[in-house]
Amino acid sequence: MPSLKNESAEALVRPDGCRAVAHSNIALAKYWGKRDVERNLPDVPSLSLTLAALSTTTSVRFDPDAASDEVALNGAPAEAAAAAKVIALLDRVRAEAGLRWRAHVASSNDFPTASGLASSASGFAALAVATLGAAGLSWPAPAVSALARASSVSAARSIFGGFVALEAGAAEATPVAADVAAASLRMVIAVTQTTPKKVGSTQGMLGTQRTSPYYGAWRGAAPGIYAELRDALARGDFERVGEAMEHSTLCMHATMLAAAPALIYWNPQTLAAMSCVRELRAGGTFAYFTMDAGPHVKVLTLANQADRVRSALETLPGVHQVMVSASGGAARMVEGA
Ligand code: PMV
Repeated sequence: MPSLKNESAEALVRPDGCRAVAHSNIALAKYWGKRDVERNLPDVPSLSLTLAALSTTTSVRFDPDAASDEVALNGAPAEAAAAAKVIALLDRVRAEAGLRWRAHVASSNDFPTASGLASSASGFAALAVATLGAAGLSWPAPAVSALARASSVSAARSIFGGFVALEAGAAEATPVAADVAAASLRMVIAVTQTTPKKVGSTQGMLGTQRTSPYYGAWRGAAPGIYAELRDALARGDFERVGEAMEHSTLCMHATMLAAAPALIYWNPQTLAAMSCVRELRAGGTFAYFTMDAGPHVKVLTLANQADRVRSALETLPGVHQVMVSASGGAARMVEGA
């Protein structure tokens, strides 16, 4: 006989399911390293900008007649490993709610996933919002952020719009008030590869933590870089923001380079784009670079200089596509499941 808990959980389910949109984010102060692998907690603080131009739309529908969960990514059935991560989030919500029904999940990105551009941040943020909505649950934003973080640390930040912080060891992200900066700045993304990356972020960071002699130095330096960036942002001192951002990415990649085996996410186009950014800056343009667990180069610039940065990057051989993004909003449910 079903328990009362189960009966009430299933009565809350929205019959038509729920659809949600979340934007990707780029960390200015990087997260790299896990404090607790089991609980997926970050070892260093990070600070990101949510991006309007890169988003994931996900729909979830719990179905009393479905025998198993069904997951489609960009119109095709998800591969086993990706489906398992999606199902783990569904399971967390089902366990919390006492809900037994399986679900249909369909997710798609409005940016090229195969290129290796980070999609887990927007993907798990959209999945968290859509799953809770489909289950008829209304959790406060910090709890939604913690749910997304359990699947992907960077996804915790995509629950919020604008600048977002995630402290070391924290379960959930928090928005950072910097509205003027968010409106004034742009992220220009140079796509330097069209094939998926070979080493995912979890595998990469665990290898770095285990083997890089510089991991301890990174762990020691990251909080100071984060504090500097946060302070510069609060003061609207964009040059200091840019300097701290470059320092963060270079420290992170330095610790990866010293891992055994070495973790080298860059390709020759990455270096060409970095040097293009430095030349732009020498010529008086506001432009600073950052790279994540991949070869793409993301450039922080001002709204009124974004076209100049885009044109310069577009002329580089091996740059496949250049996107310009303004600050994006919070993850949210959308009409019409
Ligand atoms: O949380 P993940 O697995 O998407 O890892 C993100 C790691 C970086 O993109 C390199 C840095 C960051 O803070 O987003």
